[in-house]
Amino acid sequence: MRVAILVDNYLTQPSSLRLKLLGEWGFSAYVYDWKILYDTGLSGTALLNNMRALGISPDDPDVLVLSHRHIDHTGGVKKLLDARSRPLTVVAHENLFAKAYARFEVGEVEIGVDFTRDFLESKGVKLVLVRKPYEIAEGVWASGEIPRSWGPSHTGAALDLVPDDMALYIRHPEGLVALTGCGHAGVENIVEYGLKVAGADRLHAIIGGLHFIGLSEARVREVAEYLKAKGPGLIVGTHCTGVSGIAALHAALPGAAEVRGAGAVFEI
Ligand SMILES: [Fe+2]
Ligand SMILES: [Fe+2]
Repeated sequence: MRVAILVDNYLTQPSSLRLKLLGEWGFSAYVYDWKILYDTGLSGTALLNNMRALGISPDDPDVLVLSHRHIDHTGGVKKLLDARSRPLTVVAHENLFAKAYARFEVGEVEIGVDFTRDFLESKGVKLVLVRKPYEIAEGVWASGEIPRSWGPSHTGAALDLVPDDMALYIRHPEGLVALTGCGHAGVENIVEYGLKVAGADRLHAIIGGLHFIGLSEARVREVAEYLKAKGPGLIVGTHCTGVSGIAALHAALPGAAEVRGAGAVFEI
């Protein structure tokens, strides 16, 4: 299978120069095999620019899965829909439209979605709101709400526990492949639930935000040790994994952890 990171905080590919890729705080990835777009970044500008640069038309995706309602993952929805000429299925958690706030230096800021259900309907979107695992295609699931039995949730500045945090799980011949947006549910919870949903006994790859920002060094080491024990072939912690978190993963899992950002394409 082939996965591309379309939007990310980081530009790690020298091809960014030639392709004029854009980076921004947020995340989006594309799974070519099933034409699934996972998240849309913050503004839509980076998403559309980078899609086109990588040869992906705005009309290519059949399904958009939103990892959670935060604007750095849902902020590209309006521009994406404006650029399309055919309907799109959008899979999201039931509380997609709930208000969301984060506390920053400047005070409390609203960080929820910037569109309404009426807007989606006016664009012909088929909206699928879920709480349980939702099978998009054979062996491919939007996780639904992820049970949290391990460690603290990775909420960062968010003022709620972000129960809507959903991963994309794919059953691969070599184990579970998981895409994660911000990783608010906690890495262990995301992986353990994915193994269960996909009926896999091993983690093959995890790509996306692991939300190590704000965690203690000891907790990051604990998560890295956990991942190591799962024997993954590929770990790409990016976006809100944070620079020191990415460095810690790289040090703990030298064979598996890669430092990659927007424009990276993986053959898995
Ligand atoms: Fe995020
Ligand atoms: Fe988030």
